[in-house]
Amino acid sequence: MSTIPVLTIDGPSGSGKGTVSRAVADRLGWHYLDSGALYRSVGLAASWAGVDFSDHASLVRCAFDTKVRFDTSGDDEPRVIVNGVDATDELRTETAGAAASAIAVISEVRAALLDKQRAFRRRPGLVADGRDMGTVIFPDAEFKVFLTASAQERAERRYNQLKAKGLAVKMDSLLREILARDARDAQRAVAPLRPAADAITVDSTGMPVEQVIDRVLSLVQTKRGR
Ligand code: C5P
Repeated sequence: MSTIPVLTIDGPSGSGKGTVSRAVADRLGWHYLDSGALYRSVGLAASWAGVDFSDHASLVRCAFDTKVRFDTSGDDEPRVIVNGVDATDELRTETAGAAASAIAVISEVRAALLDKQRAFRRRPGLVADGRDMGTVIFPDAEFKVFLTASAQERAERRYNQLKAKGLAVKMDSLLREILARDARDAQRAVAPLRPAADAITVDSTGMPVEQVIDRVLSLVQTKRGR
């Protein structure tokens, strides 16, 4: 078993996992894994290649072959380079999210991404953000958080995020998409979205992001100090 510490932050879409995980990784000086970006990248690469989403064998090949690189050299959020192309903006769209969620139900796709995700566990530590980080990918993680918020608030956060990026979105369709994606992620047979038995649930409804970051950091610090 690895002795490199891992903090897993799982939760539904729009729960603020990305922002919180990045900030916590930054404060701890740890690496960061955005596992959703891997699923989104595979979905996007499959669309670019014109793969039919009912053709599971081709999707699995895509999961093995798609090269994803996180470029953290800039001051902003990391750029995500998919097969040599900067796909950061395209990856954030709901279309990419829906493609990711569609391929994520295929167990061989998940298996293809297993080692790629575990390779992010490097010293001095890792913050891993996703749906099954605490249950499947890093079951032995020292720290596990399940981050959630009401569906309405998650839709509002996503709406503001996308709007700030200049993307045209409608609140009601966003809420519908979020609920549909939650249901699919929670009901799928492989690695469904659920808190690990040993995870601490943080409900961030009505909480400013700074407060959520402090709460997660204090969970890590309290446990480390013991
Ligand atoms: O977290 P994000 O919204 O970027 O994830 C996009 C989709 O990828 C999720 O809705 C989910 O279906 C899938 N996913 C997953 N397991 C992960 C991360 C993401 O199934 N660890």
